[in-house]
Amino acid sequence: MKMALPLRKLVATVCLLLLLLLLALGGATADARPATLSVHRKVAPRRKLSSDAPASVRGGYSATGDRHGEDAKMSPPFTHRRVAGKGKPPPKNVVAKSVELLEFIDVNGYGAAGDGRSDDTPAFQAAWAEACSSAQPAVLLVPSGKKHLVTETVFSGPCKSQVTLRLDATVDNLTVAGQGTLDGNGNVWWKNSCRVNKKLPCTLAPSALTFSACKHLRVENIRLLNSPQIHLWVDDCQDVTLSRIKITASGDSPETDGIHVSQSEDVRIMNASIKTGDDCISIETGTKNLYAFNTECGPGHGISIGSLGDHNSEAQVSYITIDTAHISGAMFGARIKSWQGGRGYATDIKFMNMVMDNVKNPIVIDQNYCTMVDPSKPKPCEQQQSAVQFSSILFKNIKGTTTSKDAIKLHCSEAFPCLDVVLQDINLEMKARGDKNVATSTCENVTIDKLSNVSPVPCTTVLS
Ligand SMILES: *[C@@H]1O[C@H](CO)[C@@H](O)[C@H](O)[C@H]1NC(C)=O
Ligand SMILES: *[C@@H]1O[C@H](CO)[C@@H](O)[C@H](O)[C@H]1NC(C)=O
Ligand SMILES: *[C@@H]1O[C@H](CO)[C@@H](O)[C@H](O)[C@H]1NC(C)=O
Repeated sequence: MKMALPLRKLVATVCLLLLLLLLALGGATADARPATLSVHRKVAPRRKLSSDAPASVRGGYSATGDRHGEDAKMSPPFTHRRVAGKGKPPPKNVVAKSVELLEFIDVNGYGAAGDGRSDDTPAFQAAWAEACSSAQPAVLLVPSGKKHLVTETVFSGPCKSQVTLRLDATVDNLTVAGQGTLDGNGNVWWKNSCRVNKKLPCTLAPSALTFSACKHLRVENIRLLNSPQIHLWVDDCQDVTLSRIKITASGDSPETDGIHVSQSEDVRIMNASIKTGDDCISIETGTKNLYAFNTECGPGHGISIGSLGDHNSEAQVSYITIDTAHISGAMFGARIKSWQGGRGYATDIKFMNMVMDNVKNPIVIDQNYCTMVDPSKPKPCEQQQSAVQFSSILFKNIKGTTTSKDAIKLHCSEAFPCLDVVLQDINLEMKARGDKNVATSTCENVTIDKLSNVSPVPCTTVLS
């Protein structure tokens, strides 16, 4: 299978056009192996990971030694998403059993000049060849700090093992398009997830495709399959359009968000079609002005803002519009969630024109969100004094069926009640009809500003 991009005029200093083809691969081995991340010998890392590195670092792959000192903080937040929520890093010897070896292949180690003028295509091809023939899962890495000029090229497979692409270069006007499929071969990772095997510690796994520090990014038509965790991560980017992205992973795959957006502004997600085990679209802190139109979602956990404010962090999310979505067979539909104890805000949020088809909890605001730090020892969330402030939230024209009674749950913080919530033209019914199967709505600490034509009416059931 081939994936080719239209050849574009490349502006020497800031424009990078990269095409990729990542192929369905067999054969990534699942067995537990030592957790040491291997950095390919051609990479010349500044800092090599050793088995003495903290477990949280080794579990992810942000600290690959390819980061250049001060750039490290710009790394896509492997450390602030999955591990951050898990408390202390697990003991080293336990992590060691659950993480695959990853090989990092840095294009700069293969002769890429990175000056924005020289043609780096041969270097990208050589790096690809190495990644594709790697016996262990490989990450083809385009690190930050340089500007690469790449002309039209095709990365072809099949590859020996799983290959993921990670672009950290500061690039302007990048377009990634084509008909290719990027297969993350995630089942290898899923069964070692703490969500699946409760005896294992929670660790990080790679994202199939990560863009960070991009301006004017266009991603079109690509298909992503079975990522170890997040499928497509947009971090620290401005002016991003993702069109017709198709994502498929099994409904019980753990933490496999479809499109994950953080620290980014002016993002459009058009005509996405996502079947996965976690959020179809997750919108994290630092996101401003995001518009998702015509999303097909399910199975999965719906379209979520958050979880915000974990570990008392500050969240800032504003101007989010989810317009036209079909959510089917999903756990949630339209959801906003935050941990207790955070700070900051999520404001000007609209969920509109949505059809819910057999969704367990179609409309949710949850300010008491917490996942278990340790799934084997579930504990209730502690009540805390601060919270991310939620305000100006509209749910409009949302119709369809639920599989549980909990059609609408608006559970806000006692310390920071939700403000200015508007519900209009909502009709959610329980799929299984009957006297005992009437959908309900529950509320806590929420100021409903306007309510018109809503069924079930908030808040008919007062929480005890
Ligand atoms: C990138 O695209 C933007 C918007 O289309 C344009 O204004 C800018 O000049 C482009 N930059 C380059 C380097 O092509
Ligand atoms: C999205 O789909 C609609 C309806 O099929 C189509 O008219 C529109 O051009 C598509 N937009 C993009 C960006 O793919
Ligand atoms: C928040 O909800 C709780 C539980 O229903 C209630 O006891 C408390 O009075 C509410 N706080 C505010 C500020 O409304």
